[in-house]
Amino acid sequence: MAQRTLARYLTEEQRDKGVITGDLKFLIEIVSRACQAISIAIGKGGLGGVLGEAGSDNVQGEAQKKLDVLSNEILLEANEWGGHLAAMASEEMDLPHLVPNRFPKGEYLLTFDPLDGSSNIDVNVSIGTIFSVLKCPEGADLSTPEAAEQAFLQPGTAQVAAGYAVYGPTTLLVLTVGDGVAVFTLDREQGQFVLTQENAQIPADTKEFAINMSNRRFWEAPVRRYVDEMVAGREGPLGKDYNMRWVASMVADVHRIMTRGGIFMYPMDEKVRDKGGKLRLMYEANPMAFLVEQAGGAATTGRQRILEITPDKLHQRVPVILGSKNEVDRVTGYHAD
Ligand code: AHG
Ligand code: MN
Ligand code: MN
Repeated sequence: MAQRTLARYLTEEQRDKGVITGDLKFLIEIVSRACQAISIAIGKGGLGGVLGEAGSDNVQGEAQKKLDVLSNEILLEANEWGGHLAAMASEEMDLPHLVPNRFPKGEYLLTFDPLDGSSNIDVNVSIGTIFSVLKCPEGADLSTPEAAEQAFLQPGTAQVAAGYAVYGPTTLLVLTVGDGVAVFTLDREQGQFVLTQENAQIPADTKEFAINMSNRRFWEAPVRRYVDEMVAGREGPLGKDYNMRWVASMVADVHRIMTRGGIFMYPMDEKVRDKGGKLRLMYEANPMAFLVEQAGGAATTGRQRILEITPDKLHQRVPVILGSKNEVDRVTGYHAD
């Protein structure tokens, strides 16, 4: 049987299920090409001069690495000319990037975290790219980058596609177009993403959790209660032993959960309360929540389903709890107690 490349998979989705349009297919193909280019740059490491600091800060006041800047440029350049997009927004840019006037415009909006897991770049641990696709509302004002921000402020339920690339021992692309989750593996010789798993499912129960434990003293009571119960193991109220993993690249932690289940938390804590949380709604929380729900898992802030948040600003941050459904429901329930 012929290999099911990403292009072939998208064509079949388009033909058989009608879940995607020709433009969306093209958009996802272009994003996947950009991820391949990022994967190649990452693979060069110290030989390509891509490691280390860029010497600048992003809009969030975080120091940018060279690869944050390079990945952002690769995604912008790959996507701006194709006629499938109205605008793009990135974690690394203050304002939306409009499609230049010399290029045709399309009906979609693309948001991305070009390089997730920046602290792991220089230590050769898995990093990734996260993206989300929305439809541009009819009549949206795209006359200036400032005006264009409004078009992006849609709840996660409005996403038409989301995905991530994880640059690990293998480069994978994990994608949903609202019809389950498919996993593609980069065949480096062919330069193609090839379907390696369809209909990925996150088990409802788990014995594995991911959280930055060093923040324990800053957490709210419900999360502290839940983590203490897990740490208490078999003798505790949950009656089973749990294991802990924390890569500190959301893509890698979420991909482990996508593969074998688990719960991931970057909850509200006193250090990040004034910002609203640590992770970004448009570039991290929403696309991951869409993927996780499509794989049978759940995603909340502890108090609300992530996908139902109506954003009030592009760079909004939120608490994130996602993964195996029964565990997410349990800790979300603790917030209501
Ligand atoms: P980014 O590299 O895009 O800024 O994202 C980093 C995020 C996320 O990937 C990860 O889960 C979390 O920050 C790690 O935070 P800590 O350093 O606090 O563990
Ligand atoms: Mn990130
Ligand atoms: Mn990033």
